[in-house]
Amino acid sequence: MTANPIPANSTPSLISPDVPCSSIPSFPLKLGIMASGNGSNFEAVAEAIASKRLNAQIQAVIYNNPGAKVAARAERWGVPSVLINHRDYRKREDLDAKIVEIFRQFGVEWVIMAGWMRIVTPVLIDAFPNRVINIHPSLLPSFRGAKAVEQALASGVKITGCTVHLVVPEVDSGPVLMQAAVPIWADDTLDTLHDRIQVQEHIILPRAIALAATQQQM
Ligand code: GAR
Repeated sequence: MTANPIPANSTPSLISPDVPCSSIPSFPLKLGIMASGNGSNFEAVAEAIASKRLNAQIQAVIYNNPGAKVAARAERWGVPSVLINHRDYRKREDLDAKIVEIFRQFGVEWVIMAGWMRIVTPVLIDAFPNRVINIHPSLLPSFRGAKAVEQALASGVKITGCTVHLVVPEVDSGPVLMQAAVPIWADDTLDTLHDRIQVQEHIILPRAIALAATQQQM
């Protein structure tokens, strides 16, 4: 009998609530994605839609860093992408007003912050009431804010994970939609742990979007 029955290279997890993507009746959700960098979560949503696990369409992607890989991913999926560089805006509210303007032009009804590394304001949140969703790489309320994976590693906890939640003005604090727990192994580095968390992010983000929409229809 070994001390740890789970092989170190496997990806055990616990997802709660454990509901699959559900098909949203009548019409597809019109999503706008916000991303700052790589865009793997954008792609996870696009794949869930393509494989009919999520009844939605991605109207547009907004990204804030020139050269962000998400732009190339969007192009491959035939999704329009718009660079809104936060450095061009004096106040967070001005940036958010521009985001709202662009999303409205594209007919967006649900906003998904999929790796958006800026704090958002009520200008954005109130424009899409209860329809702004964020993914964060920790089990909230632990490790809010920047560098959540580093924070978890440094803290010595043995389990971390990821959270999808509705966005409220206080950072990383809105009602939780779905979480996945991920173990931290003794030999984990920032990269190995973040990779393991991202496997779960890609599972729960599309499911949590469907769950949020279902809850609003009830
Ligand atoms: C994800 O791990 C997401 O949880 C995190 O950024 C990464 C983006 O990855 N978001 C935050 O830290 C927000 N506070 P991706 O660009 O490959 O989707």
